[in-house]
Amino acid sequence: MRNFTSIKQLGDINEAVAKALEVKAHPFADQELGRNKTLLMVFFNNSLRTRLSTQKAALNLGMNVIVLDVNQGAWKLETERGVIMDGDKSEHLLEAIPVMGSFCDVIGVRSFARFESKQADYNEEILNQFIQYSGKPVFSMEAATRHPLQTFADIITIEEHKTKARPKVVMTWAPHPKSLPQAVPNSFAEGINMTDYEFVITHPQGYELDDEFVGNARVEYDQDKALEGADFVYAKNWAAYKGDNYGKILSYDRSWTVSKEKMALTNDAFFMHCLPVRRNMIVTDEVIESPRSLVIPEAANRVVSAQTVLKEILKSL
Ligand code: CP
Repeated sequence: MRNFTSIKQLGDINEAVAKALEVKAHPFADQELGRNKTLLMVFFNNSLRTRLSTQKAALNLGMNVIVLDVNQGAWKLETERGVIMDGDKSEHLLEAIPVMGSFCDVIGVRSFARFESKQADYNEEILNQFIQYSGKPVFSMEAATRHPLQTFADIITIEEHKTKARPKVVMTWAPHPKSLPQAVPNSFAEGINMTDYEFVITHPQGYELDDEFVGNARVEYDQDKALEGADFVYAKNWAAYKGDNYGKILSYDRSWTVSKEKMALTNDAFFMHCLPVRRNMIVTDEVIESPRSLVIPEAANRVVSAQTVLKEILKSL
């Protein structure tokens, strides 16, 4: 595997999880693989988990790591070709990317949807320029449409905690004060569609995701009905995707917050969220603090997912 931008690139998901559990059991077994190899992590957006877990994964593999926060200390970058650069942007991405590529062996990129153009976001214009112009393997640390390292960690976590072969997994929209991209729900849906789990997506009318990601999931507009018998509840906010509402907030309805009463509808489900999470908007304090909350082991598995992917990329060099 050279580039990693979608969980589909892992191939068979059960084999990928088996590799990940092997990495988790023996985190320092591949130290030679990364010796004298440098990972450059480029952040166009903030991060806590991705930043730390990917760095830890690279260190476990014996790699050196350098980090660039594009918006803190670097020249302000122009991303559109053909622009007359007489404003505040001093450097073009088309020079910056190959220069970055010359300093490293592998590049991780975080570049969220900007909600300025649905086409630009869904064409992954920033991530694809890194793939095209860096000359190095590139992996997504969350891009405009997908967050595959998160999804891989989510599936590893479900596999570790499931008590039946085919658990019912419910991804539920929940309210949030800001407009958030669809990358996490898109990617989660893409990943769960690679498993044989029962999969239900629930959200208010107007929050339909791209059909490409929804795949075989059952979409249920009644959250209570969707949660009945769930084994895993995956909460996430996202802004509207369809039509002219792209990027807009259509609802702040806190009756969609995942509460103790909502969890009582489930089969004593585990609660999951990728974090960071807005307490008492997305989920109540008591649910996220309950013994059925998996948010911490889920975040810890981000090291495992990143290390498994980086290992495959290193093997391709
Ligand atoms: N879940 C996740 O990607 O967290 P960060 O945004 O903190 O990296």
